[in-house]
Amino acid sequence: MDEIQKKLGIIGKSKEMRDLTDIIMQVAPSDITVLIYGESGVGKEVIARAIHKASKRADKELLSLNCGAIPESLLESELFGHNKGSFTGAIESRKGYFELADNGTLFLDEIGEMPLSTQVKFLRVLETKEFMRIGAEKTTKVDVRLIAATNKNLQYLVDEKRFREDLYFRLKAVMLEIPPLRKRKQDIPELAEHFIKIYCENNQRPLVQLTTDALDLLYEYPWPGNVRELKNSVETAIALSRSDLLTADSFRNLLKTEERPASVNLPVRLNKTADEVERDFIYRALFELKKDIIELKDMVSKLSENGVFGAETAVHHHHSNGEERDELNLDKVEKEMIVRAMEKAGGNKRMAALYLNMSERTLYRKLEKLGL
Ligand SMILES: Nc1ncnc2c1ncn2[C@@H]1O[C@H](COP(=O)(O)OP(=O)(O)OP(=O)(O)O)[C@@H](O)[C@H]1O
Ligand SMILES: [Mg+2]
Repeated sequence: MDEIQKKLGIIGKSKEMRDLTDIIMQVAPSDITVLIYGESGVGKEVIARAIHKASKRADKELLSLNCGAIPESLLESELFGHNKGSFTGAIESRKGYFELADNGTLFLDEIGEMPLSTQVKFLRVLETKEFMRIGAEKTTKVDVRLIAATNKNLQYLVDEKRFREDLYFRLKAVMLEIPPLRKRKQDIPELAEHFIKIYCENNQRPLVQLTTDALDLLYEYPWPGNVRELKNSVETAIALSRSDLLTADSFRNLLKTEERPASVNLPVRLNKTADEVERDFIYRALFELKKDIIELKDMVSKLSENGVFGAETAVHHHHSNGEERDELNLDKVEKEMIVRAMEKAGGNKRMAALYLNMSERTLYRKLEKLGL
C-alpha cells in the first residue's frame, strides 16, 4: 500500500486515504467517469492525477480545465473547439480540450460552475463520445477518460436548478469523496514533513525540524483551507524562520487559532456535533500524552518502591534485585509510550522520535528490540 501511494504521489496513512487509494486502484484501469468531491484544498487534483497515473493512459497526457476560471462565453469553445469564422473573433480553427486530450485523460475542475447550456452538450459527449466543434457540421469522435471535480454539493445545485439532474446522476455513479484534513488529522505530521522536505530541497536549505509544540499546534488546528493551507503555512514558516527549528511560535501568527491551555478539564463547547465533541476529546487526550508519560514513569517508580509490581515480576523472573525489577517495569512503560507516540505520529518514525524526545536512531533500535 505504501509503495502504491508513493508511486501515485498520495501522502497520508489515515484509513480514509488508504481506502481512497484502494478505490483509485479499482476504478483507474477502466475508462469510467469519476467525480471527485471535497472541500477546497483537500487534494482533488492530486487524486485525479493518481487515477490517471494508475490507468492504462498513464503515458498519455492529462489535461485539466477549470470550468470556474473561464468566462461562460468561452467555455464551450475551450471544450469543443471551433471552426474558423464560427463566431466573431474565431479567426482560426481551434481544437478544444476534448480533442487535445484524445487518448488521454481530461480533468474538469469545478464542474459545478459549468453553465446549464454547456452541461447538455457535455452530457452528450459522455454518452456518445462524440461532439461537434462550434460551427462544424460533422461530429468528431474522441477517446477521452473524464474525471470531474467539485467542492460544491451537486445535489444542492440540482435542487436549485443550477445543475442538470441527468448529468448529476451520470457523474455520481463513481464518486470519490475526499474528507477534509480535520477529519483525518493522522495525516498532518506526514504531510507537514513532506512539504518541509520539498521546500528545503528546492531552496537549498538544511532540513528544518518541527518541535513537539509545533506539531501539537498543527494537530489541533482545524485547517479550513485543508492540505493547501498546511503546505502554505509550512512554507511561510520556513521562509520566515532564522533557525532550523520550527516552533509553535513560528506558526502561531500564520494560523487563526484561539489560545487554549491544554487540559482535559476544559469545558466542551455546546454548539458542536457529537462527532466534533468526540474528536475534541480525543485530541485533548493526545495532547496529554507527554504529561501521561511523565506520570506513568512516576507511577511505576512509586509502585515498584512499594513492591506492587515487584511480587509479580519476582515470581516470573526470580529476580531478587530491586533495580532489575524497576527496569522491567520501565520497559513496559517505554513500550507503551513508543506505541502511543507511533500512533500519534501516524506511523511516522521521525515524528514519533520527536514526541519521545529521543533520536531517530534510538527509536529504530528500540522498535526493533520490541519487535514493533
Ligand atoms: N494527499 C496529498 N499528498 C500530497 N500532496 C497533497 C495531498 N493532498 C493535497 N496535496 C497538495 O496540496 C495542495 C492542494 O491540493 P489540490 O490542488 O489537489 O487541492 P484541490 O482539492 O484541487 O483544491 P481546490 O478545490 O482549491 O482546487 C497541492 O499543492 C497538492 O500537491
Ligand atoms: Mg483543484
